[in-house]
Amino acid sequence: MSVATPIISVDGVTKRFAGPDSLMRRLSGKPPLAVHALNEVSLDVYRGETLGIVGESGCGKSTLARCLVRLLDPDGGVIRFEGKDISHLKPSERRLFNRRVQMIFQDPYSSLNPRMTVSQILGEALFVHKMRPKGEIPNRIAELLELVRLPQDAAGRYPHEFSGGQRQRIGIARALAVEPDVIVADELVSALDVSVQAQVVNLLLQLQEQLHLTVIFVAHDLRLVRHISHRVAVMYLGQVMEISTSEALFTSPRHPYSKALLDAAPELDPAHRSRTAATRGELPSPLNLPPGCPFAGRCPHTFDRCRVERPMLTSRGPEHRAACHLTDFGAVDASI
Ligand SMILES: Nc1ncnc2c1ncn2[C@@H]1O[C@H](COP(=O)(O)OP(=O)(O)O)[C@@H](O)[C@H]1O
Ligand code: SF4
Ligand SMILES: [Mg+2]
Repeated sequence: MSVATPIISVDGVTKRFAGPDSLMRRLSGKPPLAVHALNEVSLDVYRGETLGIVGESGCGKSTLARCLVRLLDPDGGVIRFEGKDISHLKPSERRLFNRRVQMIFQDPYSSLNPRMTVSQILGEALFVHKMRPKGEIPNRIAELLELVRLPQDAAGRYPHEFSGGQRQRIGIARALAVEPDVIVADELVSALDVSVQAQVVNLLLQLQEQLHLTVIFVAHDLRLVRHISHRVAVMYLGQVMEISTSEALFTSPRHPYSKALLDAAPELDPAHRSRTAATRGELPSPLNLPPGCPFAGRCPHTFDRCRVERPMLTSRGPEHRAACHLTDFGAVDASI
């Protein structure tokens, strides 16, 4: 996969927001604080893969997802779609981009217009992007309902008549209506009951294979990410700490933070449950980023260099990169 050209490449992307107390600070003459939501994030997404993005709440996952679909503009760095900078698209290219890269939101309750029937919701998406001549729209709606395994009589009903899982299926159908190449799913199932989560994630997995979609699956639940992703990026305080194949990440993490995250997720491996590493120390505020490694305050392996020099992502093997000064962390000794 490494020789393939990425469909999306994120190159040194930075995004800051005004801090919560910036007005107070301004009034008292202090410079405004900034939330460093993304701090030079770089990663590639390949056509036809599912890339999982994981990390604790507040680490910048949604900000990255929003930058990827142009709901937010980065302050620095470049995002390219098929090699083109998405912040400099011509109007016609922008319309095409908006069709080909679709976001599915976390909250199925607020992302669907309560006054429109499912048929109207899907019909609108088909109409806006001129996906089908008018006469073919009812057939296409029927196909879409079948694709997401909703009954045909769903077409005439309103969002409130469905369960959370069904509403998420409607959201998926709406995204698929415009035949996208890329789906960005931000916490797709987090608002759903655990029993329903697997059904929706399995549906997305099947659709990804069937339609050769590229999926960016953003979630804080490691179990779901492992299940669905070919590769996984682990984020911490607006930075990518590790990126690798799902298999390598979950069996032999090469970054102390990924290791801590796995240790703190008992459902992944109850035999090795540990509460020490991940929950040790406070999560530093993105308002006050430490100068060196963002994980230095919580890492059990911190040494002098970690506090002054930010580690960059470097190779740990094929398809595997980690940002840690301990380049041999988690390495299996080949001589044994
Ligand atoms: N619109 C915004 N204004 C100010 N701060 C924001 C905004 N959106 C996100 N943030 C801050 O940016 C950081 C990253 O947030 P977010 O991307 O939502 O993280 P995640 O999705 O991983 O939980 C957090 O500190 C959050 O409070
Ligand atoms: S760079 Fe240092 S503080 Fe950061 S994860 Fe590696 S060992 Fe820990
Ligand atoms: Mg989020």
